[in-house]
Amino acid sequence: MIRAFAPGRVNLIGDHTDYLGGYALPIAIDLGTTVAMEPGGDALELVSDSDPAPARVPVDVRPDGDALAAIEPAWARYVAAVVSLVRPAIGGVGKVSTTLPVGAGLSSSASLEVALALSLGFGGTATDLARLCQQAEHLATGTATGIMDQLASAAAVAGHAMLIDCRSLALRPVALPSDAAVVIVDSGQRRSVGASAYQQRRDECEAAQQVIGPLRDASAAEVSRLDDSLLRRRARHVVTENARVLAMAEALAGGDLRAAGRLMVESHASLRDDFEVSTPVLDRLVEDVLALPGVHGARMTGAGFGGFVVALVDAGAAEAAASHRSVSGRLVASSGPANCW
Ligand code: GLA
Repeated sequence: MIRAFAPGRVNLIGDHTDYLGGYALPIAIDLGTTVAMEPGGDALELVSDSDPAPARVPVDVRPDGDALAAIEPAWARYVAAVVSLVRPAIGGVGKVSTTLPVGAGLSSSASLEVALALSLGFGGTATDLARLCQQAEHLATGTATGIMDQLASAAAVAGHAMLIDCRSLALRPVALPSDAAVVIVDSGQRRSVGASAYQQRRDECEAAQQVIGPLRDASAAEVSRLDDSLLRRRARHVVTENARVLAMAEALAGGDLRAAGRLMVESHASLRDDFEVSTPVLDRLVEDVLALPGVHGARMTGAGFGGFVVALVDAGAAEAAASHRSVSGRLVASSGPANCW
């Protein structure tokens, strides 16, 4: 029996920066996806504990996005996309189980892709694994997402957040201070406009880059040269968010939780006002979480339009914050990298 586990992730800061070659600072969490299978045959046959319909994918399935988009059930598209890229010699029969809420912004799909690729014998580096799984995500969903989620899962270091330079793919683990804890809170809202709005934001950033060049390298003065006020706000989010990620990595490394918390609050405001991917439900939840004792900072996390809020909390206050009657929080521990045994 082959088993593989890949963690989900929560992004501490740096959203809508990865697909623009910017910076992000996710942590892999102790929730994730496990694949257990008996190798054999010429197809991969999997059942899932999150969907009654099984996935059956021939090992010679081709990486053709249009064909994959027609596969049912929908979760089998991820399976087929990974199989089409890993190209295993033999299939298998097994089971997928996950402790992540599916489609809630904690990278349930990335963790499925990474666990699957490992269980099928992918043997490259963590970065190669993340690249392959990012491509699988594109094939399965048709949305050109960045590499943060897959890299956070594949290359995680326990006890650390991961500073990702999404241009060079250089990784720098940043130790989480021992007096800090990370709490995630479910808004209960699930993104319905997510994929199209994501692509729209990408296109708007692309349009801004046509005028002022790569946003990763742009200064505030260059951003202010954009005549179109919508493009100016989008670009301002990206440029300021990249700076906040680097500042947050330094704040955490220096144990300055107050500074780290302030940066998270600024990040939320930027995602809400300039990038416009928050929702009133998320905004209210961030306010509620910020009002709890021991909370240094809180923000929406991931693509937006629902999902989770992430908070940086004093370790001693984390249990109380997570179980406060006004929020449905969960204290998360950091996870090590995806692995196969
Ligand atoms: C989703 C994508 C990531 C990233 C975030 C926003 O999670 O999969 O690549 O773009 O949204 O930061």
